[in-house]
Amino acid sequence: MLIRTNVNGEERQADVWPGTSLLSMLRDHLGLVGSKNACEQGECGSCSVWLDGELVCACLVLAAQAGGRDVRTVESLAQGDRLHPVQKAFVDAGAVQCGFCTPGLIVATADLLQHDPTPGEETIREALAGNLCRCTGYQKIIDAVRIAAECRRA
Ligand code: FES
Ligand code: FES
Repeated sequence: MLIRTNVNGEERQADVWPGTSLLSMLRDHLGLVGSKNACEQGECGSCSVWLDGELVCACLVLAAQAGGRDVRTVESLAQGDRLHPVQKAFVDAGAVQCGFCTPGLIVATADLLQHDPTPGEETIREALAGNLCRCTGYQKIIDAVRIAAECRRA
């Protein structure tokens, strides 16, 4: 089936099997491999994207459900070579090890700061509870969110 959807501000289309997930459409059909496929069960948050401005796990959304809607992926955040402030904060805080969880965490952090520019630690932990990291122990991730929030206020 042919799916037409707006991805990162561009009209895109893909011819997919009806059971194809949005994550698979993005990665395998549209070449947007920033969103990661770790669990494919909605458990890890590595595939987080915005669908009509709402944070979703792309592995749990059918590509067909995204037809005619707006999808924004982690690829929409950097401006050319210039990192988005949240991406820069993750680098500056050393919050990246293997990096597999990082795109999802960055999308979730950007989403959090859009809704709450000054989150406390509890709010940060709650907002990122759906994003699993096997490497960092989370403290540096929390630090990165704080740095990003400070940059936003500066
Ligand atoms: S790959 Fe979607 S939540 Fe893990
Ligand atoms: S940095 Fe490796 S899973 Fe998070």
